[in-house]
Amino acid sequence: MKQVRMGIIGVGGRSSIMEYWHKPSGDSVIVAAADVSRARLEQFKQSVNNEAFVTTDYHELLAREDIDAVAILTPDFLHEEHVIAALQAGKHVYCEKPLAITVEGCDRILDEEKKSGKHLMIGFNMRYMSMYQTMKEIIDSGVIGDIKAVWVRHFVGLGGYFYYHDWHGTAENTTSLLLQKASHDFDIIHWLTSSYATKVSAFGSLDYYGGDQPNDLHCPACNKKDTCPEVSLTGLTQCAFRKEIDVEDNSMVIMELEGGIKASYMQCHFTPDYSRNYTFIGTKGRLENDDVNDKIYVKTRKSGSWHEMSDITYNMKDLPGTHGGADPRICQDFIALVLHNKQPLTTTFAARMSVAVGCAATESIRSGGKMLEIDLGRHES
Ligand SMILES: NC(=O)c1ccc[n+]([C@@H]2O[C@H](COP(=O)([O-])OP(=O)(O)OC[C@H]3O[C@@H](n4cnc5c(N)ncnc54)[C@H](O)[C@@H]3O)[C@@H](O)[C@H]2O)c1
Repeated sequence: MKQVRMGIIGVGGRSSIMEYWHKPSGDSVIVAAADVSRARLEQFKQSVNNEAFVTTDYHELLAREDIDAVAILTPDFLHEEHVIAALQAGKHVYCEKPLAITVEGCDRILDEEKKSGKHLMIGFNMRYMSMYQTMKEIIDSGVIGDIKAVWVRHFVGLGGYFYYHDWHGTAENTTSLLLQKASHDFDIIHWLTSSYATKVSAFGSLDYYGGDQPNDLHCPACNKKDTCPEVSLTGLTQCAFRKEIDVEDNSMVIMELEGGIKASYMQCHFTPDYSRNYTFIGTKGRLENDDVNDKIYVKTRKSGSWHEMSDITYNMKDLPGTHGGADPRICQDFIALVLHNKQPLTTTFAARMSVAVGCAATESIRSGGKMLEIDLGRHES
């Protein structure tokens, strides 16, 4: 195979990454799309490939023999069904995160992956950001010693827009936003410490979004649209204060990782700003990122001072492409996996483990903070 012929299932918001795969004279090309929305399929035809096969029934796409690989870009609760069907149809699969919304769902996917002999890759694009790759290199170099503590603060500015105006707002669709958003962060904690979480406890609540508004209320038809602080008149428009919303917007998770490392993760959806702040403390020093100013600070204990932020400051540069250049790189790695069996930076077991932490943290929150042990499953190699 010289060129991977791809089909896309779900051509919504995330399908902006299609531009990195659709290279008709390159090593991958998009030849088909499936979506339940005819309007989105029409948009796909106009913006990507007018000649492509389109269908509202994804089974028809999977039945085509001229498709080698499929990207699953549908809402989280559909990943399990779509990934398993695609593997069973003999396709290589790229699946957006989270892999599934239950651990059992992830295990069923991992079983099917093994049976099918096909490649399955998870869309952990944060592993492809130069910020996190540099942090990993610094930790692996040993300069801050053995990691003992990890503190992560996630300020999800615009959380209201992205997660409470559409399907993301219910546990039925996502389990919780600790899978939707934090599956990336639990994965980065695991990856940078080279350790998986073994115990989890969490507190959280729905403090700002949700409420008593009708589930079918959309902002443009609302009589409070001139005064509502969360009004959204284009794009995602379901009311952010509707009754069905039941996923926490304020969560704090504490974890113990293999080797006794302690980690914490805090996520809030009504902050005015957006950033992810990671601090790693080791036996010889501390590493911290500042993703607003694209910097990484390293401070070692031997510096003998305690006022300065760092001994060494790294200035990071975004690479071309969305998500700081991570999206073109992860898309290319999927093609390299299919064409050349080149192992990507992610693994499906890591995808399963980040879901396991998100599910345990959610269960802990909803049972008053109970401590839960994480099952490493039967797939660990
Ligand atoms: N890695 C990242 O940076 C990143 C960023 C954004 C979204 N995502 C992930 O991408 C996925 C999609 O998110 P989104 O924001 O694009 O959602 P979206 O709602 O904008 O798009 C989902 C699309 O799937 C379609 N769809 C729904 N049911 C379907 C079905 N049964 N068959 C075929 N199509 C169906 C919808 O009509 C829609 O077009 C999510 O899992 C999300 O977590 C990842």
